[in-house]
Amino acid sequence: MRILIPTESLTGETRVAATPETVSKFLDLGCSVVVEEGAGIPSGFLDNDYKSVGAEICSKQAIEIWETSDLLLCVNCPEKNSIEKLSSKALVVGLLDPYKNNEAFETLKEKSQSAIALELLPRISRAQSSDALSSQANLAGYKAVLVAASALDRYLPMLMTAAGTVQPAKVVVLGAGVAGLQSVATAKRLGAVVFVSDIRPAVKEQVESLGGRFIDPPQIEDKPSEAGGYAKQASESFLKAQRQQLSDQLSEADIAICTAQVPGKKAPRLITEDMIQRMRRGSVIIDLAVSQGGNCAGTLPGKTIEMNGVKLIGASNLPCTVPNHASTLYARNLYSLIEPLIDKGKINLNLEDELISGSLLIHQGKIRFPQFFEQGGSN
Ligand code: NAI
Repeated sequence: MRILIPTESLTGETRVAATPETVSKFLDLGCSVVVEEGAGIPSGFLDNDYKSVGAEICSKQAIEIWETSDLLLCVNCPEKNSIEKLSSKALVVGLLDPYKNNEAFETLKEKSQSAIALELLPRISRAQSSDALSSQANLAGYKAVLVAASALDRYLPMLMTAAGTVQPAKVVVLGAGVAGLQSVATAKRLGAVVFVSDIRPAVKEQVESLGGRFIDPPQIEDKPSEAGGYAKQASESFLKAQRQQLSDQLSEADIAICTAQVPGKKAPRLITEDMIQRMRRGSVIIDLAVSQGGNCAGTLPGKTIEMNGVKLIGASNLPCTVPNHASTLYARNLYSLIEPLIDKGKINLNLEDELISGSLLIHQGKIRFPQFFEQGGSN
């Protein structure tokens, strides 16, 4: 069975889907692994590192390699013209962004190929080691605090100096999922006082165990529900009440870290221009939800802009700024998912397995989650 590791084509992508560590493990299972030339370089893995564990290196987009590969492990969904080169038996596994219409999915369908979207893996205990959303969100939450701290015009910790005492920075984290909780932990370690808003009351305990102070969701009847640990989309009347509540908190904040998201939906708008007008000049907003429409008004993917002296940072892909560890963890997530599927040198997609049935977006050309395609994307 041949596994292909492509060079990622998305602009700004620095991660790679396999590291020498995971390549070596796949080889031990009897697979052959081909890595496209230079695929690991942005993450710090040289072609020779892969070669030294037994991988083959091929030139970029080598047609005969694509045609004869059984499994393509990627970070982002490859472009349509790359998918076209794969054979009909091929399985593509990666962060395929299933909520957005992608013309590559049409090709997967037409060519009777299969694809697993890691975003769809059920969040059950058995899936934890394969949970790429979590491994990458953890990095994003950590890095968001470091980016904010270096953009801020103040210290984060309380300091008693000969020139007097400075008070700790106040950080407000919106959304206490994986990224948000890691932001809380990181900001606390740097000495900030951290306040957290989430609409799922269940996270209160997790926030408090990290030393954060939980802002209880607005107590109005029209509360959003949750399913499978995820929040459902909040109504406009709920969001209005939430914004009123957050406006005072943010007017005293030095940093706001926005991580509030609802899978497959536009991110809730939690910070408006009026709220930014009330914030202190020099304060910083990091919007991790910017690619899903943003929690904060005015943020743009990959850009830093200023509004009323407040820095708005549209942090669209923070894991790419920590590519070595991001790739290491992502590659382990993939190995952990794939290893149990390999049976006598072949991939066995057992649809009875909750992990597979939950994440197999396309099976031999058949779309298994038509709702994503009918909606025409989420945003
Ligand atoms: P996510 O990235 O989809 O959303 C981030 C956070 O935003 C969530 O906590 C959500 O409640 C919150 N949010 C949504 N609307 C909001 C609003 N209007 N205001 C404030 N916050 C809002 O979530 P993520 O990080 O992917 O985690 C989702 C869940 O999955 C969490 O409960 C997490 O603990 C759980 N999980 C479970 C795992 C397992 O193996 N059992 C592994 C990883 C996560």
